[in-house]
Amino acid sequence: MLSVNMVAMAYLLASVLIIFALKGLASPETARRGNALGMLGMGIAALVTLQMDAVQNYVWIVIAITVGGLLGGTVARKVPMTHMPQTVAFMHSLVGLAAVLIAVSAFIDPGAYGIANAEGGLYMASRIELFLGTFIGAITFTASLIAFGKLQGILSGKPLVFGGQHLLNLALGIVMVGAGIIFCMNEATLPFMVMLGVALVLGVLLIVPIGGADMPVIVSMLNSYSGWAAAGIGFTLGNNMLIVAGALVGSSGAILSYIMCKAMNRSLMNVLLGGFGGDTVAASGAAGQVADRPVKSGAAEDAAFLISNARSVVIVPGYGLAVARAQHALKEMVDELLERGVQVKFAIHPVAGRMPGHMNVLLAEADVPYDIVFEMDEINSEFADTDVALVIGANDVTNPSAKTDPSSPIYGMPILEVSKAEHVIVIKRSLSPGYAGLDNDLFYMDKTMMLFSDAKQACESIKQAL
Ligand code: TAP
Repeated sequence: MLSVNMVAMAYLLASVLIIFALKGLASPETARRGNALGMLGMGIAALVTLQMDAVQNYVWIVIAITVGGLLGGTVARKVPMTHMPQTVAFMHSLVGLAAVLIAVSAFIDPGAYGIANAEGGLYMASRIELFLGTFIGAITFTASLIAFGKLQGILSGKPLVFGGQHLLNLALGIVMVGAGIIFCMNEATLPFMVMLGVALVLGVLLIVPIGGADMPVIVSMLNSYSGWAAAGIGFTLGNNMLIVAGALVGSSGAILSYIMCKAMNRSLMNVLLGGFGGDTVAASGAAGQVADRPVKSGAAEDAAFLISNARSVVIVPGYGLAVARAQHALKEMVDELLERGVQVKFAIHPVAGRMPGHMNVLLAEADVPYDIVFEMDEINSEFADTDVALVIGANDVTNPSAKTDPSSPIYGMPILEVSKAEHVIVIKRSLSPGYAGLDNDLFYMDKTMMLFSDAKQACESIKQAL
């Protein structure tokens, strides 16, 4: 068994590795290395914890690791990239549930956790930690389950709004905190159970008014909550590693939510108060909402002609690229263009796709060189000098109404200004709206040619035509 100092050193090393992991994840070039460092850090933390004196029975641990590892490994292999947000939401629900279960068992048997006072009860400090870990964990658990249901299409993505909703939430919040304070003052079972029950209900009520379109922000916020829940439980267990890792997850999730809100031009409060964004399934098939206006459409050969004669092409990938799994076909098409001396660049909107970095991951998967991939702020000024903007499966992130129509729900959201390019080619299957459920004026512009096709098929046909 390692000495206390050795354990502290190992935890310190694991914490540093996890910090470097977060740093690595901030850029697509270093993300793989970041992931590897994170796994190493987590592995060290787990091994060091498992060899501690407090761990007396390995049977359950081996069973849990085997079952959990098999389930997790299978899900990770099978889940398509487009279903990653709901998978992450589901994982967060498990973190919340774990925090609640640990808190409840520590409440029932404080002695087993080494936090019992002389009378076998809990010290005030432990009660406060348990209170925090329990209610954050419980809200994370039920809120994540609802987010999972909405994203998976098991529950409607429509915001569920009713009169007095915010007042009800406020009242429940007050009851929850009140019961928690009573529990902290005098260790009693009833206030603990009331606090836990109300927190579980609050988790549901806080998420139901939030529309499908805002769910990815909520998932990232729940990520943050799950980190704080873990940190709270870390205090209860007296485990520094859990406190540090929990705080890192908590703060990085909060920063990510902020970045996403900024990219969509929304405030976090506006997202939390809900009501934005309809049913995603209905929205993406709602051809009825599309204006009956003429569009120019062309074939893959026309697109190939335009881009092969261009000096510069900027490709804007979106959610449709992920749905069609077109990244490899796209890479082959781009290679063909590069060979012909066409300058090709990629423009990535911060909320293109359905999760942060979605497009970067797809392009990295297809080995698109990082030096031709640009973030929105870096490339927006170049569209005016671009011969062809090639939009593949993207919609909302190119919608000019975000700049021109104050009545649009996405008004103010920064967009990729593709309409400034000399020609625009849009590859998608129909005129159906994207996630926000809005028609897109870009499709009806004189300079725009629609290529109605599945993104993968279109890339293959264009390559063929080239
Ligand atoms: P969207 O606006 O959702 O549009 C995607 C388009 O892809 C659809 O209009 C669809 O049109 C097309 N499509 C679907 N399957 C296709 C296929 N197989 N081949 C070709 N096209 C296909 O996507 P976007 O421009 O990437 O914008 C992302 C949206 O998600 C934004 O509204 C954003 O706010 C929201 N959102 C994103 C995030 C993050 S973090 N990424 C977070 C929250 C919200 P057809 O059906 O006609 O083909």
